[in-house]
Amino acid sequence: MSNDGVNAGRRRFLVAATSVVGAAGAVGAAVPFVGSWFPSAKAKAAGAPVKVNIAKIEPGQQMVAEWRGQPVFIVRRTEEILSNLKKIVGELADPESQASVQPTYVDPEVRSIKPEILLLVGLCTHLGCSPTFRPEVAPVDLGPKWVGGYFCPCHGSHYDLAGRVYKSQPAPLNLPVPPHSYETDDIIVIGVDQENA
Ligand code: FES
Repeated sequence: MSNDGVNAGRRRFLVAATSVVGAAGAVGAAVPFVGSWFPSAKAKAAGAPVKVNIAKIEPGQQMVAEWRGQPVFIVRRTEEILSNLKKIVGELADPESQASVQPTYVDPEVRSIKPEILLLVGLCTHLGCSPTFRPEVAPVDLGPKWVGGYFCPCHGSHYDLAGRVYKSQPAPLNLPVPPHSYETDDIIVIGVDQENA
């Protein structure tokens, strides 16, 4: 209710201000002007937390959610994927994510709350392209050492399946881990920290 009071007050102010600026006969112009000052329902929703049901993600596969207009990759990692993460530590630029963006309640190496469920903001830390999910081991185009990860099609940055960037890539940092929490085993809330859930 208090918001309504504030909005009504602002609306009165804006209409009054517009009538001064617009002079006589410009009543119609007040509508788009006032509208531009109030966030639309869509704009409000864009900043809100997002609930995602992860029950249908198969082992080794990912789904893509949207949060604040950004893709969020959610991967169900297998034991094999998790053990491969340990084998490539020496080839990574920031294996413990000391310079990279992630919540404090996320493990710094596997970069998740539960080892098997990974969430990443799906925008390359170079210039913001969306990297491609490449979970295969040793595909022809990525070479025999590839143990699964993300490949950015724009300038070729390579990340592992914890979103950690390899050394000597255009991208300087690991893919960010968004704030998130578990409402149940299958429902994740993106945008609400685990500690506050
Ligand atoms: S935007 Fe990904 S490598 Fe440049």
